[in-house]
Amino acid sequence: MSQILVTGGTGFIGSHTCVELLANNYEIIVVDNLSNSKEAAVDRIEKISGKNIKFYQADICDYEKMTAIFKENDISAVIHFAGLKAVGESVQKPLEYYTNNIYGTLILLRAMRENGCKRIVFSSSATVYGMNNKAPYTEDMPTSATNPYGYTKVMIEQILRDCCVSDKEMSVVALRYFNPIGAHKSGLIGEDPNGIPNNLVPYIAQVAAGKLQQLSVFGDDYDTPDGTGVRDYIHVVDLAAGHVCAIEYAEKNTGFEAVNLGTGNGSSVLEVVAAYEKACGKPINKRIAPRRSGDIATCFADASKAKKLFGWEAKSDINEMCADSWNFTKLNPNGIE
Ligand code: NAD
Ligand code: UFG
Repeated sequence: MSQILVTGGTGFIGSHTCVELLANNYEIIVVDNLSNSKEAAVDRIEKISGKNIKFYQADICDYEKMTAIFKENDISAVIHFAGLKAVGESVQKPLEYYTNNIYGTLILLRAMRENGCKRIVFSSSATVYGMNNKAPYTEDMPTSATNPYGYTKVMIEQILRDCCVSDKEMSVVALRYFNPIGAHKSGLIGEDPNGIPNNLVPYIAQVAAGKLQQLSVFGDDYDTPDGTGVRDYIHVVDLAAGHVCAIEYAEKNTGFEAVNLGTGNGSSVLEVVAAYEKACGKPINKRIAPRRSGDIATCFADASKAKKLFGWEAKSDINEMCADSWNFTKLNPNGIE
């Protein structure tokens, strides 16, 4: 059976997607340089699925290594998660972000082309909708960015579109994720950020665990029902299932498609805090702080294209997402080790 190469497969979304792929009988090969994850994630994926996977600790920017991986295996499609993802850090280190994310993707695409691999599912982001569109976001809206991280997603989407123009057999699905949170029900894999988390739910999780003192709610004067920012939180297991659908779609279709993966519903910061308090059974210490620069009031998906193309829709609600996040946090006080 042909194999799926998963770049960034030991990371948060990648590890959950590996579990879904294995449950659907795909054979997988994982490439990760472990810059933001640990090799222990491989054992966890194998434990959940009861199957073995082939793991390469390698950098996607390493052309020789990537070519060797394609030569050693029979890879029919790639799911490409590998990338740096911290918005603030990308402003401080633009060259690192452009090199890792864009150069890395170019190397991967070259290795794919040289080995006749023409299918790729790419981790894009709702960040490509920029500041000028209004939610709900539809895939035909113009894309833009406000920081180097966002530009890497906009540019990689363009590179992939151009590849489809030049090779009519190429099949690309760019999945635009909204806000992935939660964890696998087993509590064996979940989000395990290095240092102090930037994102809301991992931050709340550390306050609940007693590792951080207080959540800063960035702004309560937005034009939203309770004044705090509204986002489309999606359970990472629902998101992972969307990748299996995208691979199946790419096996049967050619050309470029951008597809939102979100629930289509928004939750405010205060609603997420309330759901987390219910999940962990204790109050989350918080204060209202100034707005965070670059944040918008409201971001949620029009999720109808994924339903139409893939028959996929998200199942979990915000309470289940927070319960699963807390379960993972409780079971892994020091992260995945
Ligand atoms: P993550 O950091 O947990 O996973 C990314 C993985 O890629 C890590 O394991 C890291 O070690 C690896 N990696 C990074 N650069 C690499 C390189 N040059 N070679 C090999 N491996 C490399 O992040 P995640 O949340 O799982 O995100 C996965 C993808 O989804 C990223 O491309 C990210 O930009 C995108 N995305 C994430 C979110 C989110 O909120 N988590 C939202 C939208 C899009
Ligand atoms: N927030 C707080 N306090 C915090 C952290 C966040 O109030 O400590 C608020 C933010 O202001 C925002 C909401 O919680 O209103 C969500 O913030 P996150 O940082 O969790 O997520 P973002 O929507 O800002 O960004 C995420 C990813 C980006 C991605 C974007 C769109 O971090 O990489 O979703 O997909 F581009």
